[in-house]
Amino acid sequence: MKGVRIGYGEDAHRLIPGRRLVLGGVEIPSERGPLAHSDGDALLHALTDAVLSALALGDIGALFPDTDPKNANRPSRDFLEEALRRVRERGYRVAQVSAAVILDRPKLGPHRARIQESVARLLELNPEQVGLGFKTSEGLAPDHVQVRAVALLLPLDQP
Ligand code: C5P
Ligand code: MG
Repeated sequence: MKGVRIGYGEDAHRLIPGRRLVLGGVEIPSERGPLAHSDGDALLHALTDAVLSALALGDIGALFPDTDPKNANRPSRDFLEEALRRVRERGYRVAQVSAAVILDRPKLGPHRARIQESVARLLELNPEQVGLGFKTSEGLAPDHVQVRAVALLLPLDQP
């Protein structure tokens, strides 16, 4: 019988001037953004890896190699949508996610509701099923954005 599954994922990107900072599909006003092959949405990347890991389906890099030019500047929601397709194919759904974003600047608190709603929409969840915490690195990683995320998956036939 199928049971509850949990998955963990992480992502980190270096911040450089002149790039847009997008987290959970929401653009955050910022002087710097992630240096990345794709749009560098570290929150969606960590969540996608958490979802894939919950069913031992590998990770983003295995599904979408960054050596493939097709994946350059690809919207991160494509990665998440493919992960969700594979989850459904195996008879599961994402029931809840929780993530911590570690970023020194800018403050993300004022954007929490918007990010929560955006992630919920992408994962077909209610915003209260999307937990988001924000932390500074206390200066340990002032030039990076880091995200750690967990996902809880339930079988489709379980309420
Ligand atoms: O890292 P620190 O404990 O100093 O963060 C204090 C609070 O600031 C956090 O609990 C969070 O609510 C907020 N914060 C934020 N945006 C960040 C980092 C922290 O809103 N980029
Ligand atoms: Mg990434």
